[in-house]
Amino acid sequence: VNEGHGVKGLSEIGLQKLPKQYIQPIEERITTNTVILDDQIPIIDMSNWDIHNKLVSENICNAAEKWGFFQIINHDISLEVLESVKDATYRFFKQPAVEKNKHSKENSSTNNVRYGTSFTPKAEKALEWKDYLSLFYVSDEEAAALWPSALRDEALEFMRNSEIVMKKLLEALMKGLNVKEIDESVLMGSKRINVNYYPKCPNPELTVGVGRHSDVSTLTILLQDNIGGLYVKKMDSDMWVHVPPIHGALVINIGDALQIMSNGRYKSIEHRVMANGKNNRISVPIFVNPKPTDIIGPLKEVLLESGEEPIYKQVLYSDYVKHFFRKAHDGKDTVDFAK
Ligand code: SIN
Ligand code: FE2
Repeated sequence: VNEGHGVKGLSEIGLQKLPKQYIQPIEERITTNTVILDDQIPIIDMSNWDIHNKLVSENICNAAEKWGFFQIINHDISLEVLESVKDATYRFFKQPAVEKNKHSKENSSTNNVRYGTSFTPKAEKALEWKDYLSLFYVSDEEAAALWPSALRDEALEFMRNSEIVMKKLLEALMKGLNVKEIDESVLMGSKRINVNYYPKCPNPELTVGVGRHSDVSTLTILLQDNIGGLYVKKMDSDMWVHVPPIHGALVINIGDALQIMSNGRYKSIEHRVMANGKNNRISVPIFVNPKPTDIIGPLKEVLLESGEEPIYKQVLYSDYVKHFFRKAHDGKDTVDFAK
């Protein structure tokens, strides 16, 4: 059906009924009876923040331990940068299918730029109601040559700006683990930026925008628009909380790599996205990752300080990522790969 036009194409032909490949098994659908309304992830004000500000640092570490997710406000990335990358995302997806498909698996000359739909269509029992473009950053030169011009400059600008914020967050998080100096070459060794498009859906209750998963990153920084639909699992429960859109805020989450390096202190939490019956939604995550060639494991400082035994073994990061991309979004057991 509608080969090559993504779910955006399906949505725009005015389907009355969700095609059956997108119908999720009942246990994967998002229903209101598993959603908590009177609790939410922390919102942290970063204004005038520096590493010596104990309160903010502690808030960041606590949020990373208790929720694995938080929102930041007054983070110094201008609204203009955020609005531009959202506009650019729309500009990319608005293009004719042939233009976007230059970056599909079949047509693209590089693995570093990928336009696609769903997540791992081959491994999935049911498809996800989402199109995306994923950009692995190598250098400005490569981006200039390979990234689609519809959003290249705006994506790069958002990435550059986010680097400062990421570094501050990692400094606070590492301080909380007794690590004096952050090893940027591992913690921020590589970067990927995705732009996601979740078209309006005819039967949103039967499918998902993104299924349950945790990120494989060190940290993820996510820009969402004002539609909403991202749900985060509350720790030690089977309940979920919504991440309410806040104008100008960014959503931060701990990824598997940092959970492993912190020997389980910081939590990489499952999350998922509900499809929407009325509106299109976009989001723009930046994944800050170790380099594919890095070997990651619990940091020695963490083990020394706590006297804990390592609960994860050392893994080659590219093996870890390969494992993640081989399976569907079926919940959080990717990290067991490091056990
Ligand atoms: C994701 O976690 O894969 C996407 C999150 C979002 O779109 O809000
Ligand atoms: Fe995610």
